Amino acid sequence: MAEPSYLAAVRESYDAVAEDYVKIAPARFREDALARGMLAAFAELVQANGRRPVADLGCGPGHVTAHLNSLGVAGFGVDLSPKMVDIARRTYPTLRFDVGSMTALDLPDGHLGGIVAWWSVFHTPPEDLPVVFGEFHRTLAPGGLLLVGFHVGDEHLRPERSYGHPVSYDAYLLLPDDVEELLRRAGMVVTARLMQEPSQSLKRPQACLMARKSEHS
Ligand SMILES: C[S@@+](CC[C@H](N)C(=O)[O-])C[C@H]1O[C@@H](n2cnc3c(N)ncnc32)[C@H](O)[C@@H]1O
Repeated sequence: MAEPSYLAAVRESYDAVAEDYVKIAPARFREDALARGMLAAFAELVQANGRRPVADLGCGPGHVTAHLNSLGVAGFGVDLSPKMVDIARRTYPTLRFDVGSMTALDLPDGHLGGIVAWWSVFHTPPEDLPVVFGEFHRTLAPGGLLLVGFHVGDEHLRPERSYGHPVSYDAYLLLPDDVEELLRRAGMVVTARLMQEPSQSLKRPQACLMARKSEHS
């Protein structure tokens, strides 16, 4: 199937920002105790389900993949940007990182115990989210868990620069109720929500939803 046209801009933009992104994002992640709390719960629940692999989709420079592994999860990363994957491989040489797109995952049906999509679905035009959530559902094992983090709102943003570089991607803020409904239509049920309000370190509200694929689908 032909690649959706918006992906070229996302790939090029993240290739351009990758070396500067890695100087900032992992440090922010270390400061985000609440979001890491959701990841800790996710790791515990995934392991209680068995030992299936967990994919960190849109893994960027790999720090969340590494964090999942430090929690005992057999996690690997996938990212659209070859530059991001190079950095992840260089930084965490013992872990697996693949170049790929969450719109068409190179993974068998029912392969994964869990999926983390950590601030990585927000470049997907909302009308294309059913494709992405359909891939999550296809690749998760029955009972598999999803953790998805995103910026909250209803704006469509077209930033000209990011991390000191020109970028050409679009960014879509999302409403948790809309994401929950799209996940439900894709065959997953939201089981927990974390909402973080704006603060000194957080420009916009952000949400993290945990969802489960039914045991019977
Ligand atoms: C804001 S960064 C987040 C990276 C990392 N998850 C983190 O928390 O720092 C968004 C990442 O998602 C990736 N991405 C966006 N759309 C993607 C897609 N369709 N498939 C795979 N990766 C994608 C980008 O290349 C970029 O590395």
